Amino acid sequence: MFSINHQPPTINQMIKIGNNITLPYFPLLLAPMEDVSDPPFRAVCKDAGADLMYTEFISSEGLIRDAIKSRKKLDIYDYEKPIGIQIFGGDEDSLALAAKIVDVTNPDLLDINFGCPVKKVACKGAGAGVLKDLDLMVRLTDAVVKATKLPVTVKTRLGWDDNTRNIEEVAERLQDVGIKALAIHGRTRCQMYKGEADWTLIEKVKNNPRIQMPIFGNGDIDSPQKALQYKNRYGVDGIMIGRAAIGYPWIFREIKHYVATGELLAPPTVEERIAVSKSHLRKSVEWKGPVVGINEMRRHYSNYLKGLPGIKEYRNRLVTLTTIEEVEAVLDEVAVKYDGFEVERAPIVLENYHEHCPV
Ligand SMILES: Cc1cc2nc3c(=O)[nH]c(=O)nc-3n(C[C@H](O)[C@H](O)[C@H](O)COP(=O)(O)O)c2cc1C
Repeated sequence: MFSINHQPPTINQMIKIGNNITLPYFPLLLAPMEDVSDPPFRAVCKDAGADLMYTEFISSEGLIRDAIKSRKKLDIYDYEKPIGIQIFGGDEDSLALAAKIVDVTNPDLLDINFGCPVKKVACKGAGAGVLKDLDLMVRLTDAVVKATKLPVTVKTRLGWDDNTRNIEEVAERLQDVGIKALAIHGRTRCQMYKGEADWTLIEKVKNNPRIQMPIFGNGDIDSPQKALQYKNRYGVDGIMIGRAAIGYPWIFREIKHYVATGELLAPPTVEERIAVSKSHLRKSVEWKGPVVGINEMRRHYSNYLKGLPGIKEYRNRLVTLTTIEEVEAVLDEVAVKYDGFEVERAPIVLENYHEHCPV
């Protein structure tokens, strides 16, 4: 069916971003996701094998105003490396100033978001709004590249709508002003999350002989089989995974194993699910404080414990408890009750986020 790469990758197959970041062959990237890819979530994805991660997007204006929410998103840790900080904005001076602020926190790279379809971002000329004005996109990128010593990368969509699927030109022009890698979500802004991501234009960008930088494909990867199929079909340097990792960080190690051997790893054991729930919980409490940390963890239990028959009773208790000790005690009960139970592999369902946003 699909060709499998059984040869160990050579040093030449490593992926380089700028001079200082070397990623393994066919790296897996954790997509930036607002309200999701915070340090506690990134920690579980890193443990599961994510090769490069990004912060949630950070408003350049917010950084300049010193808004608490924006500042907090700059928290990155040594164990996360390599890590990129993602910023967005529609104004050259603000983006350049934000880039200087980011510099101080010493990430491995600085990523610019030109893909966010959410109305409050796109319609202010930032995020995917810039897709309507390629010259502006180039000026904004140039301003950031000149303002920072970090490698600058970009994440974007195919274009604004079906009439402006200009990613091939975008890739060339952004490379010309100095970006070091490009991640492309195979949808237009107007598609939001509708339909299926179209990777054919991503393939064209990758196959353009003028393009020297790594090209990462993004959109709808939800299984090891699909990851390998898309790797082989579209020839991208690596893939970026967003929604599939929410509640299932193990997707990273499963894809790595499948790409290397052609075999599916067994789904995580109950013990691993409990261990990840606890470590995510502890990190959430550490980073967000007990009240918010415990509250925000509640949305993760149903995913982490999915497939255990009768788990609802425990889940209902988990989402009412208010101390870390109480939550851990219930997780221990779950570990004992389901000890040795083999959870069946269930397809990952990708949510249609942002669908409420008018186009
Ligand atoms: C909840 C959520 C928040 C997101 N926030 C961001 C963001 O901050 N920056 C960004 O570039 N993309 C953001 N995205 C888009 C993802 O990075 C990714 O491009 C998109 O989900 C498609 O990949 P997937 O099919 O693997 O999920 C977000 C997506 C989701 C679901």
